[in-house]
Amino acid sequence: MFDLRQFAAIAPECYQKLHWHEQLESTNDEAQRLADEGAEHGTVVLAEYQTRGRGRRGAGWMCEPGDGLLFSVVLRPQFGKDYYGRIALVAGLGIASVLIDELAIPARVKWPNDIQINGKKCCGVLVEANNDCVVLGVGLNVLNAPGDDGFIAINDVVSEPVSREKILALVLAAVMREVDQCAEDFSSQLNRIEAISWLNGKNITFLSAGHQHQGTAEGIAEDGSLIVRTNGGVRQFAQASDIRCVN
Ligand code: BTN
Repeated sequence: MFDLRQFAAIAPECYQKLHWHEQLESTNDEAQRLADEGAEHGTVVLAEYQTRGRGRRGAGWMCEPGDGLLFSVVLRPQFGKDYYGRIALVAGLGIASVLIDELAIPARVKWPNDIQINGKKCCGVLVEANNDCVVLGVGLNVLNAPGDDGFIAINDVVSEPVSREKILALVLAAVMREVDQCAEDFSSQLNRIEAISWLNGKNITFLSAGHQHQGTAEGIAEDGSLIVRTNGGVRQFAQASDIRCVN
């Protein structure tokens, strides 16, 4: 069970209040409900287990009770909606940076919202915007990953097990810092993302707007879209799914 007292002793100042639940349908839904009631920027909802955890594009998010961190943060950005497309990317940057800098894990950001370790997914970010508020949801595999071979957990790659309390404290501080800076400092954040991008330079296939595409990932544009060199020239894709490396 998540140790709230241990977390309180090391929690960053940036978060407002932690709402812990043994079980929820989705922490994003509960965070949105609290936001609708006026919850402040930095309010966090954390669940041991979700019965209907969701990912992007209708996918689910599976995690056995206590195996990971399943949380959502209410954000009331000081910047306009034009910048909301950056939030998932910079949140991923913050999370990956914690894994790299604090735990010496070779984490990589996989555009648009995954964090990978050794080519397997350890974390997904789901950003949902409504009215003047944004809910940022994070699913991070800490103790164990789901059985599917495409997933990995932090404790699969560290020599000493890490506590979920410590990781949440570090990740919350990093995510809030990166999000707060993303309107003004996105160029330098992009440079940091490029340095740890899983896709950069790789030949990829993906789906966008109902079409299958193939090309070489060349970077991320200022608006957060993926730059791909295709047979038809260099193109930018704001949305894509099912991104696979072909070599
Ligand atoms: C993805 O990889 O497509 C994003 C996955 C996001 C999962 C997290 S778990 C906590 C929060 N609540 C949800 O229902 N989803 C996000």
